[in-house]
Amino acid sequence: MCGIVGYVGKESATPILVESLKRLEYRGYDSAGITVFNGSLETFKTVGKIADLEDILPEETIANVGIGHTRWATHGKPETRNAHPHMSSCISVVHNGIIENYLQIKEMLIGLGYIFESDTDTEVIAHLLNYKMQSETKRPDLLTAVRETIRELEGSYAIAALCSDEPECLVFARKDSPLVLGIGEDGYYAASDVTAFLKYTKDVVYIDDNEIGSIRPDCIEVFDLKGNLLTKETHTIEWDLEAAEKAGYEHFMLKEIHELYLTPEQIKHLRRATIIACGTSWNAGILGKYLFEKLTGIHTDIETASEFRYGNPVLCGEELTIAITQSGETADTLAAVRSSKSYGCRNIAITNVVGSTITRESDSVVYTRAGPEIGVAATKTFTAQLITLYMLAIHLGRARGVISAEEAKNLIVNIKRLPGQIQKILNRKEEIRECAEQFADMKDYFFIGRYLNFPIALEGALKLKEISYIHAEGYAAGELKHGPLALLTEETPVVAIATMGHTYDKILSNIKEVKARNSTVIAVANEDDTEIEKYVDVVLRIPPSHEMTSPVLSSVVLQLLAYYTALAKDCSIDKPRNLAKSVTVE
Ligand code: M6R
Repeated sequence: MCGIVGYVGKESATPILVESLKRLEYRGYDSAGITVFNGSLETFKTVGKIADLEDILPEETIANVGIGHTRWATHGKPETRNAHPHMSSCISVVHNGIIENYLQIKEMLIGLGYIFESDTDTEVIAHLLNYKMQSETKRPDLLTAVRETIRELEGSYAIAALCSDEPECLVFARKDSPLVLGIGEDGYYAASDVTAFLKYTKDVVYIDDNEIGSIRPDCIEVFDLKGNLLTKETHTIEWDLEAAEKAGYEHFMLKEIHELYLTPEQIKHLRRATIIACGTSWNAGILGKYLFEKLTGIHTDIETASEFRYGNPVLCGEELTIAITQSGETADTLAAVRSSKSYGCRNIAITNVVGSTITRESDSVVYTRAGPEIGVAATKTFTAQLITLYMLAIHLGRARGVISAEEAKNLIVNIKRLPGQIQKILNRKEEIRECAEQFADMKDYFFIGRYLNFPIALEGALKLKEISYIHAEGYAAGELKHGPLALLTEETPVVAIATMGHTYDKILSNIKEVKARNSTVIAVANEDDTEIEKYVDVVLRIPPSHEMTSPVLSSVVLQLLAYYTALAKDCSIDKPRNLAKSVTVE
């Protein structure tokens, strides 16, 4: 869950590495560092953000080669000694991933006299590389030493390494962590994600698992693990050629839904779908399950990727899997998709990031196109995932004849109303701020909802805990009496999503159960609901809306509630403690 970068070229490496690391800060931001070749390898690292790293860098450097890293701690606390790059005399290494067998390797290296300065798994790579280069018979070059080193590593890695004996060479390798190269006019780049170097070049080469290679001033070479030179395709990122890409469709979403590569016959015969995701994307997936079952008649399961990958899924290969991942890089989601594909399942990816790993490993992709989301807490991308799921379900439902043209049209009309309705909520955000401030000192919160509002309750709780550090639980409202009611006291606010729909009366009963335990109830309800005030303490309003689409509106209210609570508590809103935007380790 870290970000790595590298540069070899004619330009000064330091500002390029720093600029690239800033673009990757969403992947981790507890410490950062760079190594540049300035006659010898010079390493600078510090705890904190990239701005803190900038403060300790020399003003001028003539280095044209360097590597860099922004860290999200997995092994070892955020301390300077645990920040990357890690050194072993003439070697410097940055790494994203987790080396699972690092303790065994560390023990072996300590036995050989190596001294460890950090608590990280990565430091074993630097020392192991150093050890490989000390071969008594024939001293291998850096590329060979990296190849020999990674043979001994178990786990995941994207690595970039420098050796002062080969000052103009950067060696990289990848397994289960993203890595992409950039080909610029004045140099070559390596990074965890294309956004790192998009400012410098749009020509990229995606490195696949079990590939290794070198970047020198005049060439890039990529090999398989046996040493065979590979011919890699160069892709040009054309993110801004929007109009030309729409191919006559009014919207990208419509075009992409038509690109599902499922024939009408295949769609008709679909019997089962499995949605795979983590975190917020998983919450969106629960709504997806309800939508799919209602609008398409396809039995739909929702799976947490980290569980699915180690479970025993019963798949015959005819199921459709739908992976939802904002970043397209979540390690567990990628692994779960690989596992389902090994059964022959066809996968649709719903992602926000063009060119991300999931897009290259799926049979078809629907982009949410919410634009870059920098805050660690998913907000607009969650909304975009929900809309994508509505559109996908409507498309499949029509193709299967489960919903009529009239029903589809009615739903689309209601989806089109959402931006205006969301604006109305944003206009009333002061009410949400007041509510948030009133309860900001609480230690525990509950969020309850039924049917389509259940995943919104889960997401409301996730948002609150993620950025305000308040313990919050999301629950299916009907489940409260099966245990959680025991936790309710006057000090436990309960947010109840009580919007109009066929479960409205049921949630009113749940609210009464809660009030009978003296808890404060904050309801999210429609503006035209005059009944609700009789039963609750605070009402946060959403415009009158269709039962099917109101969850999108309620989720915006809960995002604002989490935001203002975190603000009242003076929390680090965009970069909450312990979290990173993209979770590329399991
Ligand atoms: O990029 P993904 O959608 O695969 O990320 C999955 C989760 O890590 C992510 O949704 C996380 O839960 C969010 N930070 C929550 O706001």
